[in-house]
Amino acid sequence: MSKERILVVDDERTILELGQRFLSSEGFNVETASQGMQAMKLLEQGPYEILLTDIRMPGMSGLELMKMARSVRPEIIMVVITGHGTITTAIESLKMGAMGFILKPFTRQELLSAIHNALDKYRLRQENVRMKSLMPLFQVNQQLMMQTDLTHLMRLIVDLVKTELKVDRASIMLLNEKTGELVVKATTGFENLDENKLKKHVGEGIAGLAVEKKQPILVQGGIEENPDLKGLLDDEKVASGLAVPIMIRKKVIGVLNLSKFNRGQPLGESDLGLISIFCGQIAVAIENARLYRDIRNSYLRTLQALVAAIEIKDQFSKGHSSGVAQYAGIIGKALQLSKGRMQDLIIAAILHDIGKIGSSDDILKKGSKLSEDEFELMKSHPGNAVKILETIGLSQEILSSILHHHEWWDGSGYPKGLSKEEIPLFSRIIAIADTIDAMTTPRPYQQEVTLAEARDEIRRFKGSQFDPKLVDIFLGIEEKTLLNSESSDLDALSG
Ligand SMILES: [Fe+2]
Repeated sequence: MSKERILVVDDERTILELGQRFLSSEGFNVETASQGMQAMKLLEQGPYEILLTDIRMPGMSGLELMKMARSVRPEIIMVVITGHGTITTAIESLKMGAMGFILKPFTRQELLSAIHNALDKYRLRQENVRMKSLMPLFQVNQQLMMQTDLTHLMRLIVDLVKTELKVDRASIMLLNEKTGELVVKATTGFENLDENKLKKHVGEGIAGLAVEKKQPILVQGGIEENPDLKGLLDDEKVASGLAVPIMIRKKVIGVLNLSKFNRGQPLGESDLGLISIFCGQIAVAIENARLYRDIRNSYLRTLQALVAAIEIKDQFSKGHSSGVAQYAGIIGKALQLSKGRMQDLIIAAILHDIGKIGSSDDILKKGSKLSEDEFELMKSHPGNAVKILETIGLSQEILSSILHHHEWWDGSGYPKGLSKEEIPLFSRIIAIADTIDAMTTPRPYQQEVTLAEARDEIRRFKGSQFDPKLVDIFLGIEEKTLLNSESSDLDALSG
């Protein structure tokens, strides 16, 4: 049975009596008023869902009443009762937001269908509003799916939650399956984060309880009646708190915690639907990011195996790839390359000589300088590298950086004789890094030199072999920075 409260307003007693009788028999809670002012008093006192009002009344007209009613009860559903003489006014009332009208005299059936139609329209409108409120979720979803870096994703989630769901605090915790601990991965809205709260066990606190029970836990400070939940808000600033488990295929992988300070608008049951959809999206985004990380790590392990293969074959090059990557990384940092491009530069530097796998042992292990023919054969190693690597999904930039790492600024290098900016930036960086590492490491055919001497060599070939701007940048880096930098290898790139 319907339980909506209806206020019927009409100056004709018979209409009020009919309204009362017909609507009460349908289960509505009905009250009546014979004029506008009296109706306004009742509206101010009680929560009515529906206002059924006559248009032509002495004193305040139906239209005026509707206007005032809207200002105190914006959500109220309004239906007007009208005689034949006031039909144009009735149409006016529809423009003002009335959901329907009914002509006098009316039967019980006519009245009830007018009210039910109005309720249906209202529900449809509410549904539209709800769908519109879901729109940001679709946009949020796109943003989440685009973020494949797990750390950045955690940050993005709490930031989006705070703005889209209008909460004061948000945090995301991921479950460590081995230890059963929930570990905070990102937070927003906390001034001083208590170290003790960064980890929770399953079953502990709101977050732990939500994970244990696999369902959202809502705690409304002040009005919470459940004694088990009351004590869970451990910060007096927080008026209401909500923890929603993040689940994928019925398995909990983490929990999203939200809290509001304002007691006036606490988190409530009505927030749950939206937040649960949001948590579903978060779960998929986390799984995607984890998948991406795993694929990337296995890909890096493949590259590591390739590097190990060349280092076993050519013992003199042992450590050379990570040395070149180290110097290239320092130059890349000085150029303020983005994180993603830095990673590509490091990968290119590590793999730049992988094509030497195809060079004969005699050449690689030769203790003296190469003959002209041998040098010709050696020139094929950048091209061989690309042949080896092109099937494993490296970016085009990495491949061409490797192909051109022996080009010279003045065009006299190999394999294509490119010059100046025709040579990819990473190749120009690797050329400097390669020379520095090769000169400062003992080789079968040469005595190693000091870093200062190697830098002089780079200066000597500025503008001929090396990009003059990069040489200036490189020489501007202090020697101690080069000596003390952390080594760059593929392990450092694993997530
Ligand atoms: Fe090389």
